[in-house]
Amino acid sequence: MPPAEVVRLADARGPACHAGLGNMGQVVTTLYASRLRLRPFAAGDWPDVAAYSIRPEFRLYLPLPPQTEESARAFVEDRVRGGQPNDAGDWHFGLQLVEASRLIGSIRIGVREQAHRQGDVGYALHPDLWGHGYATEALRRVLAFGFKNLGLERIWAIADSRNEASWRVMERAGMEREGVMRHHRLHREEWRDSVLYAAIRDQAAERAG
Ligand SMILES: CC(C)(COP(=O)(O)OP(=O)(O)OC[C@H]1O[C@@H](n2cnc3c(N)ncnc32)[C@H](O)[C@@H]1OP(=O)(O)O)[C@@H](O)C(=O)NCCC(=O)NCCS
Repeated sequence: MPPAEVVRLADARGPACHAGLGNMGQVVTTLYASRLRLRPFAAGDWPDVAAYSIRPEFRLYLPLPPQTEESARAFVEDRVRGGQPNDAGDWHFGLQLVEASRLIGSIRIGVREQAHRQGDVGYALHPDLWGHGYATEALRRVLAFGFKNLGLERIWAIADSRNEASWRVMERAGMEREGVMRHHRLHREEWRDSVLYAAIRDQAAERAG
């Protein structure tokens, strides 16, 4: 079986991006940022996912029921089974520090409307590792992947308007606020507003120099 990271993609301007064959013979992609590896999920990742997803602060602004070991298993199984991209057009990556094997979070980029080259992103990190800029670094890398490798024109994301940590990540990564969607989510019996952010291809290229 060929190793997982063998074929270098044409991405001369950005940090490294490798595609290769995974254990099941499927094509997998791993992205590298300065401190992080963004790699496909593996079946054995669920205890690491459970370690952060069961923390109450993790889902404070997410429309999720309390997370358990079972939900972590299902989350990981779904990502392993779905491959990259899955049938819905999503590329799911587990986040690791380059010098460590533990999974510390996840990030996703999805192609939403191929004809219009639109994409969206979502991300989450282990609460013990908040405050180090890892989410910002991962988001920057995934935006570059979306523009350079997936050919997207616009990449958007939403966050609960109270999730200031999340919208600060988007701003640091170069996304701009486009507006507020009032009563966008019914979250634990309460209507919540969402903020909408987006990055546009040309502006992202300008920022990258
Ligand atoms: C959203 C979430 C990922 C943000 O995590 P975070 O740690 O605040 O974000 P980053 O990893 O980018 O770290 C940024 C913080 O580290 C600081 N920092 C330290 N070193 C840094 C560096 N090298 N680069 C950038 N920021 C750095 C920043 O100043 C910032 O702190 P501040 O907000 O006090 O100014 C996290 O709160 C989370 O996982 N929440 C649960 C899931 C969730 O809500 N996901 C979003 C759904 S929309």
